[in-house]
Amino acid sequence: MNAQKQKLFLDALRGEKTNRIPLWFMRQAGRYLPEYRELRASKGGFLDMVYDPQSACEVTMQPIRRFHMDAAILFSDILVIPHALGQKLDFVPGHGPKLEPIRSQDDLARLSYRNFDNVLSPVYETLRLTSSALKTEGYEDVALIGFAGSPWTVACYMVEGQGSKDFMQTKIMAYQNPQLFAEIIDTLVEYTAQYLIKQVEAGAEALQLFDSWSGVLDATQFKRWVIEPTRKIVQLVREVYPKIPIIGFPKGAGYNYLPYAQNTGVSTLGLDSAVPTDWAVRALQSQMPVQGNLDPFCLFAGGDSLILETEKILQAFGKAAFIFNLGHGIHKDTPIAHVEQTIAAVRDFKVQ
Ligand code: CP3
Repeated sequence: MNAQKQKLFLDALRGEKTNRIPLWFMRQAGRYLPEYRELRASKGGFLDMVYDPQSACEVTMQPIRRFHMDAAILFSDILVIPHALGQKLDFVPGHGPKLEPIRSQDDLARLSYRNFDNVLSPVYETLRLTSSALKTEGYEDVALIGFAGSPWTVACYMVEGQGSKDFMQTKIMAYQNPQLFAEIIDTLVEYTAQYLIKQVEAGAEALQLFDSWSGVLDATQFKRWVIEPTRKIVQLVREVYPKIPIIGFPKGAGYNYLPYAQNTGVSTLGLDSAVPTDWAVRALQSQMPVQGNLDPFCLFAGGDSLILETEKILQAFGKAAFIFNLGHGIHKDTPIAHVEQTIAAVRDFKVQ
């Protein structure tokens, strides 16, 4: 029997200190790559591409072929869940996502669950295709990540109907009508868990939960709408796949990273760029592997600060299980040369 080629990314997720630090970049497939822009232009809409397994697989593979990161991430979006629940969704160029907002019980009652599996079946096909493309193209050392948005962040888009600076409508609903809001969150918990389980079935080797807007909540609301739903999802997924590594990324959580680490059951923490390095090493990496946390705009800017910050992160976190990444998604105008330079620096770093 052939021994499976070692996947450093999965070793780090299991808590091992690796000989070389594995890396990938959030939003590594996307508009900063000319090959993405070209395919996107020929395919029309973003969602058309997401639901076309051949294209989605191609886009997932693009950054791997160019940079050979240690993990490929499924090309999809966190908003496919509300879409599969029947909420109207459009990606308007230059404006981001637009949904028909849910503000009342009647709005919520209009969702339909019948087509959920059907709508999402191309996503599972993308994972199967990508899993096999990684093997046939000789990337046996590259792991495949599946993902979903966390209920809080997905609910923010469902209630607002679009992006927002403060997610005011969502926060007000959570205070004024916690029953209605809990119904939205509970629905998301159930369907997100199903979705993630099917992703693992289709070939995802690790999962990431993106909670991009967890940072707008106070501690009590954070516990109720971030920690509890995340804990339930982790539990439901682990009932089927007890060992699947799950990365939790509660962006902007600040001090709340601590109760999140202790109470959700995630096995790795994704750190945003604002998390102080020394504190993270002591308070968080002492409990579990961490991933992060270069500022995407430091990568964009390049020059001496990029070299310095990359080195600082490697020195601080490189003494235990660690995955190099950004603190948030890569910006679309990031020079590719800066990405190459950063990857080279991480590869060359000598783990002590
Ligand atoms: O990381 C990857 O390479 C995998 C693919 C991925 C996308 N979105 C593709 C995408 C992932 C993991 C996401 C997650 C996502 N989507 C999040 C959580 C992470 C974060 O960035 O905070 C959120 C909040 C969304 C919702 C979303 N999707 C927004 C707000 C936007 C518009 C903003 C933008 O960058 O245009 C999208 C669109 C989107 N999702 C694009 C891509 C490549 C751009 C679409 C295009 O080609 O025009």
